[in-house]
Amino acid sequence: MKRTFAGLCGLIGVAGLGAIATHAAGNTETSTSTGAAATRVPARLAQGKAVYDKWCAPCHTDQAGLAGTLALQTKYKGEKPAVLEHRTDLTPEIITYYVRNGVAWMAPFRKTEVSDSELAAIGAYLTAPLQERGISPARLAEVTAAGAGK
Ligand code: HEC
Repeated sequence: MKRTFAGLCGLIGVAGLGAIATHAAGNTETSTSTGAAATRVPARLAQGKAVYDKWCAPCHTDQAGLAGTLALQTKYKGEKPAVLEHRTDLTPEIITYYVRNGVAWMAPFRKTEVSDSELAAIGAYLTAPLQERGISPARLAEVTAAGAGK
């Protein structure tokens, strides 16, 4: 227990450095969708991140060419981040609306796919402070500079 706690503190402490290390390591970036990153968010956000990683990340991360990110890049033209996880203006209500109704070629998600409680967890995750989502200012600046965050 004590070790885990210390580990978490370490992770939080080096969040900024982590972004740089991830960048340097190149392809470890994709692995942030799985195990390692899940430990980076506070426990109360872990379910939301897991559900997000499963159902939303395939179209909405900062990797080049993803449908959701590309569409939002075109829609907002840099006024808002194209990566959903980098947005600070979304509310759980807005997220629920889009997930249940769909938009463009994002199909609506049925409750058998994403349940109401899972959707609430996504809402909590996407509206938490960026740092708690495991997104450091350094990472954000890097993505913005590369164009995907615009
Ligand atoms: C098949 C790809 C795909 C998947 C999977 C997907 N989306 Fe989307 N999403 C899109 C596209 C494309 C748009 C943008 C449509 C447009 O041009 O307005 C979008 C738009 C949105 C928006 C609206 C943002 C805005 O400001 O207009 C929200 C919120 C959203 N998605 C949330 C989610 C969530 C939460 C999930 C997971 C449950 C998810 N999406 C899964 C493709 C996807």
